[in-house]
Amino acid sequence: MASGESKKPFIPGISTRAIHHGKSFAEETGTVMPPIFPSSTFAYGNKEGFDYTRSGNPNFRILESVIASVEDCKYATIFASGVSAITAIASSLQSGDLVLCEENLYGCTVRLFEQVFSKFGIQTSWVDFTDASSHEAIKTLKPAMIWLESPTNPLLKVIDLEKICEEAAKEQTPVVVDNTFATALLQKPLELGATISLMSTTKYINGHSDALGGSVCTNSSKWQNRMTFAQKALGLQPSPFDCWLITRGIKTLPLRMERQVNNAAALADILANHPSIKWVRYPFRSDHPQQEIALRQMNSGGAIITACLKGDLVKTHLFCKTLKYFTLAESLGGIESLVCHPATMTHAAVSSEMKSHLGIDNSLVRFSVGCEDIDDLSNDLKLALNQLQ
Ligand SMILES: Cc1ncc(COP(=O)(O)O)c(C=O)c1O
Repeated sequence: MASGESKKPFIPGISTRAIHHGKSFAEETGTVMPPIFPSSTFAYGNKEGFDYTRSGNPNFRILESVIASVEDCKYATIFASGVSAITAIASSLQSGDLVLCEENLYGCTVRLFEQVFSKFGIQTSWVDFTDASSHEAIKTLKPAMIWLESPTNPLLKVIDLEKICEEAAKEQTPVVVDNTFATALLQKPLELGATISLMSTTKYINGHSDALGGSVCTNSSKWQNRMTFAQKALGLQPSPFDCWLITRGIKTLPLRMERQVNNAAALADILANHPSIKWVRYPFRSDHPQQEIALRQMNSGGAIITACLKGDLVKTHLFCKTLKYFTLAESLGGIESLVCHPATMTHAAVSSEMKSHLGIDNSLVRFSVGCEDIDDLSNDLKLALNQLQ
């Protein structure tokens, strides 16, 4: 190497990092897959510093190191679910603090703020972060925290994360981005200026609909301390077995995502061209209101499609039940396709006024597109749509 040339550390690609974690905590056995450490407690003074599983466990550390590596950040803390991760972040707030929230968040996040955290004096204000007036709200309301999702659940609004983080930085307001729909594979909120990137690892990260989990990623040691404190003080830790499953699941995240995104992009076009459909939302389609932002901030359009059918609740329900390969169920992000009726399922806890303000009505369906063969998925969809004619 010529003198003066910088020695850049070699960083393997994201698929490699998702597969190879640093440690198995059983090196002497030559194990290829890490074991499961179900122990609730650890002998005092052990060399890895484990104490009691509520505050750490080898399976947590393995998963935290993979998630931090995939997210390209300094710290990751894992939790029992996405909702536990949200609770951990909110537990750092004080009574009287105001959280400025995107008005379209996952229904259970809304329920937590409105029905749980409000009892402890945490206030919320709900704004449309795709509207420039939200920048003014950051200045005038001076919130203690900004809470975003992008793409949002279920309307797939795409928020200009870089712009909002820039406005928030002027006021020194921390920004939380729920990155569950995109994952670090499609979008990196911390690189766009966010303080915290949160995921429900129940979804794409695990990918097999057989475990619940959540993660919080940050580059701030102050926030990392708060998260490890919340993990142990509030009892928000996952089980070692679920961590082990999620560690196994994340290894195929890039493979699964590639297939799911290709399937979703093709199905979004089929839906958009069918006479039974009023409108379709898919971030990379040219008819998406924030397509330009999506193209700039995401690597692909993701694997969720939201569509509004021409039909009432009965017809929409019939459509969902007619589908053979899309199971009508809560959740998303697994290898199997799912369909969901947000108004009565994921967003049932959101007030009717807010739902009608946002446009989450009885004709709205959300598809989580899986890894099945595209011909089977498209034929299934066309048959169910044709029935509505
Ligand atoms: C965007 C988003 N955030 C958080 C959660 C909560 O995750 P969990 O079900 O793992 O608690 C969900 C669940 O659907 C979600 O869609």
